[in-house]
Amino acid sequence: MSERQPLIEMQGVVKTFVNAAGRFTALKGIDLTIYQGEFVAIIGKSGSGKSTLLNMLTGIDHPTEGRVLIADTDLYAMSESQRSLWRGQHLGIVFQFFQLLPTLTLLENVMLPMDYVDIVPRGQRAQRARDLLHQVGLADQADKLPLAVSTGQQQRAAIARALANDPGILITDEPTGNLDSRSAAHIIDIFSELSLQGKTIVMVTHDPDMTRRTTRTLIISDGKLVNEAVAQALPLLSHRQMREVERRAQEVVFAPGETIITRQQPVDTFFIITAGQVEVTLRNRQGETVLTRLGPGDFFGEVELTRGGRAIASVRAAAAAPVQALALSRDDFHWLMDVSPLTADAIARLVQSRLQTNRQQNRTRGLFGWRKGK
Ligand SMILES: Nc1ncnc2c1ncn2[C@@H]1O[C@H](COP(=O)(O)OP(=O)(O)OP(=O)(O)O)[C@@H](O)[C@H]1O
Ligand SMILES: [Mg+2]
Repeated sequence: MSERQPLIEMQGVVKTFVNAAGRFTALKGIDLTIYQGEFVAIIGKSGSGKSTLLNMLTGIDHPTEGRVLIADTDLYAMSESQRSLWRGQHLGIVFQFFQLLPTLTLLENVMLPMDYVDIVPRGQRAQRARDLLHQVGLADQADKLPLAVSTGQQQRAAIARALANDPGILITDEPTGNLDSRSAAHIIDIFSELSLQGKTIVMVTHDPDMTRRTTRTLIISDGKLVNEAVAQALPLLSHRQMREVERRAQEVVFAPGETIITRQQPVDTFFIITAGQVEVTLRNRQGETVLTRLGPGDFFGEVELTRGGRAIASVRAAAAAPVQALALSRDDFHWLMDVSPLTADAIARLVQSRLQTNRQQNRTRGLFGWRKGK
C-alpha cells in the first residue's frame, strides 16, 4: 500500500483566461496526486472548472502557473509538438461528443492514432483495431461509418480509438453525458473493466452510476478541489459549505502516540482526520481497551460538543505515524450544525451510536460507572 507510485501530479496549477470580457481564473491553485491504477471521478457544478482541469492533464491547454507531471515527465517543459506526440503515446482521451471522423469507418478511426504515433507496426494496425473494436463489443460494426451506428456505439468506438496505442492513462470528460441510460451502463462497464486491467482513469462525470464504480471521487468547486477528508466526513454539505469548513478549520498535527483528548476532560474542538489513524481508548484498573480506530474522513469530538460534556473516552494518535487533522472550534461546529440540518441529524445519530458502544464497553469491562456529561 505504501509503495503506491504517484503517476499524475498537479502542483499549484492556476489557469486564468484572458479575453475581451476580461480575466477569469478558472483554476485557483490545484494540488493533486493520482496513483497508478486509480479510477478517479471528478465532479462539480457546471462552470466549476472540471473540463479546464482535464485540459491541463491532456496538455490541450496550458496552465498560467504551476506544474503538471505525468510519469515523471513535465508536460509543459516540452515543446508543443513533443507534447502532442507524448500525448499520443501515453494518454487515451474520450470526450462527451465522440469526435470520430465522419468519412472514415470505425476501423479506420481506431487506426488513426496508430498511424500518428507510429509505434504499432504498420502490418499489425488493422488487426489490432479489430481486436479493440471486439473488446468494446463492436466486432460486427467495424466497417461502418460513424453515422451508420448508434451514439452509444460511436462512444464505444471512441474508447477503442483511445486504446489504440495501449496508453496507461485514460482521460475522459463526461463520456456518458450524451447517451441514453442503457448505452451509458455499457460504457460504465467498459471503463470498470479497463480499470481492473490496470489502466489509470481520470473521468469527469455527472453520473452517480459512474461515481459508484470509481475508487475515488474528487470534488471541484469554484476552481479549487475540496479537501477529500471533509467531503467524506460531511457528505451532506453543499460543495461551497465544504470549502467553508476548510476555510474555518485549522490544520493540526499530532506526533505518533500523542494524546489528543483525555477522558473526563472538557472538549472544545471538532476534529476531522486527514491523514494517519487515531485510537479511541478507555482505561480501567486492569488496563486499557482500544474501542475503535479512526482514519482519514472520520471525525471525533462531536459527542462532547453536542452534549456540552466532558470526554467520554480518550483519543490518541496511533503509534505508526503522525496524525493530521482539521480542527473546528466549538463556535464553528455550531455554525456547521446550523447551516446543514441534514448534517446535524447524521451527526446526532452517530453520537447516539457512539454513546451506546461506550456504555456497553463500560458495563462489560467494569469501568467507572457511566456518568452523564455536564
Ligand atoms: N476559453 C475560455 N475563455 C474564458 N473563460 C473560460 C474558457 N474556458 C472556460 N472558461 C470559464 O472557466 C470556468 C470553468 O469552465 P469549465 O469548462 O472548466 O467548467 P466545467 O466544470 O467543465 O463545466 P460543465 O459542467 O458545464 O462542463 C467557466 O466559468 C467558464 O466559463
Ligand atoms: Mg465541462
